[in-house]
Amino acid sequence: MTKARRAMQEDLKLVDLVMELTDARAPLAGRNPDIDKLAAGKARMIFLNKADLADDQATLAWMDYFRKKGITPIRLDARKTNFKKAVVDGVKIACQEKIERDRPIRAMVVGIPNVGKSTFINSLAGKTAAKTGNKPGVTRGNQWIKIDKQLELLDTPGILWPKFDDEAIGMKLACVGSISDEVLNMQEIAYHLLSYGKANYNQLFEARYGAVPQPDDERDNEIVLWMENIARQRGCLKRGAETDFDKVSAQITDDFRSGRIGKVSLEVPEQA
Ligand code: G4P
Repeated sequence: MTKARRAMQEDLKLVDLVMELTDARAPLAGRNPDIDKLAAGKARMIFLNKADLADDQATLAWMDYFRKKGITPIRLDARKTNFKKAVVDGVKIACQEKIERDRPIRAMVVGIPNVGKSTFINSLAGKTAAKTGNKPGVTRGNQWIKIDKQLELLDTPGILWPKFDDEAIGMKLACVGSISDEVLNMQEIAYHLLSYGKANYNQLFEARYGAVPQPDDERDNEIVLWMENIARQRGCLKRGAETDFDKVSAQITDDFRSGRIGKVSLEVPEQA
């Protein structure tokens, strides 16, 4: 990571404003705490991306949380292309002192993998986007995309590495898909999602998966029984009608990530 980190530190020297993307469903887990040190002295904005998948009430509470920390927050679905005005207005708030200068504000986008950085840059830049990419002869980096007469964006986002020393943070990142699925136990993720859903979004989860079964035997685990029911409904069975836990776990995780269960957030500011 040191090479990526060094490249980002070089890029940061060029900008006035850091636009940090995090996942609206887990805004703290989805940040790298080093960003405060890396971006010291820069104007800051935070984008709660994938807000289309997050619990609206939780997102509003997070907006308040970041405002109190002096960081301008914007909720976002980066796949849409209608947020340029909100961004430009936000930049004016975040860069009040810097805006009166003779050149545009220069900004860069940072965030952990899969949070939506490329989607965001492409949507914001629209058709005017400078095409860099992996084409031969196109040099990387330090190309400025003009967003507005007062705003230029670095074409290459800074990739922050997720921090998940803490198991709970790792689990949230796994749920939203920010850690490669190969390093995860899908059954644990699905088990976590169902337990969390039962405790916090019972109606949404029961609407999708049916009621949580009441165990006849107190040694039985209701979440495992629930998974077995879901597997039966969906035909996730192995030979001999045995539950295919891997298959049903993958489906539950995919349901969550794509919003099919509903708008669910994995953390709220009171826990912060
Ligand atoms: P990155 O550069 O930070 O690594 O992320 P990237 O833009 O590649 O986005 C990662 C995935 O998240 C993409 O989905 C993208 O479409 C999706 N995404 C980005 N922003 C939003 C958002 O606000 N809401 C929702 N619901 N999804 C968002 P993908 O399935 O990996 O790719 P694709 O099939 O959509 O292209």
